[in-house]
Amino acid sequence: MKHIRNFCIIAHIDHGKSTLADRLLEVTNTISQKDLQAQVLDNMDLERERGITIKSHAIQMEYLHNGDNYILNLIDTPGHVDFSYEVSRSIAACEGALLIVDATQGIQAQTISNLYMAIEHDLEIIPVMNKMDMDSAMPEEVEDQIVELLGCKREEIIRASGKTGLGVDEILEAIVTRIKPPVGDPEAPLQCLIFDSVFNSFRGIIAYYKIINGTISKGDLVKFVATQKEYEADEIGVLKLDMSPRTSLSAGDVGYIISGIKTSKEVKVGDTITHVKRPCEKAIAGFEEVKPMVFAGVYPIETEDFEDLRSSIEKLQLNDASLTFEPESSIALGFGFRCGFLGLLHMEIIQERLDREFDMNVITTVPNVSYRVFTKKGDMIEVHNPSGLPDITLIDHIEEPYIRASVITQTNFLGAIMTLCLGKRGILIKQDYISSNRVELIYDIPLGEIVFDFYDKLKSISKGYASFDYHMHDFRESKLAKLDILLNGEPVDALSSLTHVDNAYTLGRRMCEKLKELIPRQQFDIAIQAAIGAKIIARETIKAVRKDVTAKCYGGDISRKRKLLEKQKKGKKKMKQIGSVEVPQKAFLAVLKLD
Ligand code: GTP
Repeated sequence: MKHIRNFCIIAHIDHGKSTLADRLLEVTNTISQKDLQAQVLDNMDLERERGITIKSHAIQMEYLHNGDNYILNLIDTPGHVDFSYEVSRSIAACEGALLIVDATQGIQAQTISNLYMAIEHDLEIIPVMNKMDMDSAMPEEVEDQIVELLGCKREEIIRASGKTGLGVDEILEAIVTRIKPPVGDPEAPLQCLIFDSVFNSFRGIIAYYKIINGTISKGDLVKFVATQKEYEADEIGVLKLDMSPRTSLSAGDVGYIISGIKTSKEVKVGDTITHVKRPCEKAIAGFEEVKPMVFAGVYPIETEDFEDLRSSIEKLQLNDASLTFEPESSIALGFGFRCGFLGLLHMEIIQERLDREFDMNVITTVPNVSYRVFTKKGDMIEVHNPSGLPDITLIDHIEEPYIRASVITQTNFLGAIMTLCLGKRGILIKQDYISSNRVELIYDIPLGEIVFDFYDKLKSISKGYASFDYHMHDFRESKLAKLDILLNGEPVDALSSLTHVDNAYTLGRRMCEKLKELIPRQQFDIAIQAAIGAKIIARETIKAVRKDVTAKCYGGDISRKRKLLEKQKKGKKKMKQIGSVEVPQKAFLAVLKLD
């Protein structure tokens, strides 16, 4: 055990975590240069395209130091807020962390939030200043920030570049000399911390864990504490570039288990694996059931695709337990599902995977958060859909979720950012100077306000120089109103939203204006109205038009005509018939695009 080092890399998004990990794998000959595909660890197509690590992974390297062979387990962590629980579990499996800070950007919001998590778990922090090869690097200034943040010495900060390989040897040396070996008793009852799982269509679910205490052997009968399910360990092993089977693994080791688990629901990140015969007394602390916080309706464009959509979502759920869904019906959209996501990025990823991997043509509705509705009778109902709100006369009060957000920015954008947060009903909790021209703002903001375009606005007003991170904080009572949208007098339930009463009028007016832009003119007038209860608060009209796409090629080439008609038909596919009105997908997300 004294030759094992378990570590992770924590960084703000795009600070170069994956690139640096590739260099470590290369220098330790874990992969050969020839096989080095850019960013091996990001092996999901979508991840590579988006350049973000969605699921965390682990990989084992070997490294020779003073004649001894060391096993270095790198546990990769996702960088985005939506997956922060996974980050916290990966961190809990390590004894040390490389803290990567981009020398051109300095400390950002996720640098700090991830660092706090690492400190909470008593990890040894090795600060690394990355992208030193770039002309825009500001080593002195960023070094000051790191010293200030960590209270470390300047000499402890390693200057590196994932691009040129600068500092990589020094990092490996630091991992061996500065990070402590894992502690734990190989003879004690088995306790393994699950920090990740992946779905493999041939082998089922593969769970990744770190052994805190005890020894696990192939064929052992094991139990997953949170689910209370028992399995036989069909195969255990360590994670090299591929899986490498072993007969037994003990305390300190990081490994995988394959045991005929079919769905990701059975394997919960943070859960403990123990032996059935000699169970550990206590599960590893800190297990938390991740709850989706953002909900949206997902509907097939063609009604007959409903069952296909169900099986596609079910398949996605096999490898993503944080995705939840239940059937729902909408008067406007027919039969579909209300899906729950960890956050907005998670929602986008699922939408894209439905389209890409399953070729599902779907309409997604405006996302909303989960509300707690307290009835006059004293019951509490969780409402995931504005149209599911009980009759207003039965409601005593409604609570909505608040997040605690950290925004780091340069002082010159401070005013604009504070105005934005105020407009989103944010409450300023704290303001800290990180350096003379950089500030961290802590705000409590309703999650429902963040769901609507907060992040995009923050980016644009700060010209990209503001970073943002958040975690769920609490639920608070709010004065909320349900805003309905009517098309030609018919309420379109999929366009309903819950909003703070003070914003309802403005939102109603802007929704109508935006929908007027987004819904194409049709052969009759279309009235768009916004209403609270029976009261109409805004109205717009789309004037009738007759559109003949083939008019342009009158008497012309027949195949061209057919092509145009085909094109029109295809264009139509992204439309949904609501009563007599055809509404494009864009319109359902109109509320997100208000400016
Ligand atoms: P996430 O996985 O999305 O959190 O990003 P990451 O932190 O893994 O960053 P990644 O390694 O994907 O790097 C982000 C961008 O910075 C990529 O375009 C890299 O090519 C570039 N990059 C990373 N390291 C360096 C470096 O040392 N020098 C230079 N010039 N560019 C780098």
